[in-house]
Amino acid sequence: MKLAVITGATRLGRQTPKQSAWIVNTASQLEDVEVEHVDLKDYPMPFFNEAISPRYNPDREIDPAVQKWLDKINEFDAYIFVTPEYNHSIPGELKNVFDYMTWELKRKPAAVASHGTVGGARAAMQLKEILSEGQAIVIPNFSAVHGISELITDDGVLDATAAANPYGPQGQLDALLAELKWYSDVLSAARTSAEASPALV
Ligand SMILES: Cc1cc2nc3c(=O)[nH]c(=O)nc-3n(C[C@H](O)[C@H](O)[C@H](O)COP(=O)(O)O)c2cc1C
Repeated sequence: MKLAVITGATRLGRQTPKQSAWIVNTASQLEDVEVEHVDLKDYPMPFFNEAISPRYNPDREIDPAVQKWLDKINEFDAYIFVTPEYNHSIPGELKNVFDYMTWELKRKPAAVASHGTVGGARAAMQLKEILSEGQAIVIPNFSAVHGISELITDDGVLDATAAANPYGPQGQLDALLAELKWYSDVLSAARTSAEASPALV
């Protein structure tokens, strides 16, 4: 599985990279998993400004900054989007990158990891809807963290007590990764055998 862990917040002093680092650390211990951290901060782009919806514009002229993001996201066969909760939703910069996307996620598995005062649950539910419109296969499991600043270090190490709780964040994340890997293996094989199918677009 070639997995992207995407940090969906860019503000100064953000906490989200801690959750991403913890996910990367966990995933990199698994067999047959190649994991890369993709930080939205490295993909600055304007607010969506195209005259026609990208999915229905064969003559689309793509801003080089947007193309860089689309090329990167195309590289993977599984995704974990890591989001905080801002005003009961996802950050604007994360929504923006979806508005530029067409079929990059189609028939690929995607999962959500979130954090906030209620584990980022409201943002996570909205993000699942957005992923579904992006034609991703949305994994039901999700990883929710409450109290990220105390629970996870900058290097992505989860607090030992929390890590020992099988029903805590580590247990959730382990289950999420197992499911994501299962779907990724199945869907990668199916996409390869369906390569000639016109239904891919
Ligand atoms: C603009 C803004 C809005 C927020 N709204 C919510 C919210 O609706 N629910 C919540 O649980 N936390 C909310 N928070 C708290 C964030 O979840 C918390 O600050 C978290 O660390 C944000 O992720 P970040 O540090 O990576 O930006 C908000 C924070 C900001 C900056």
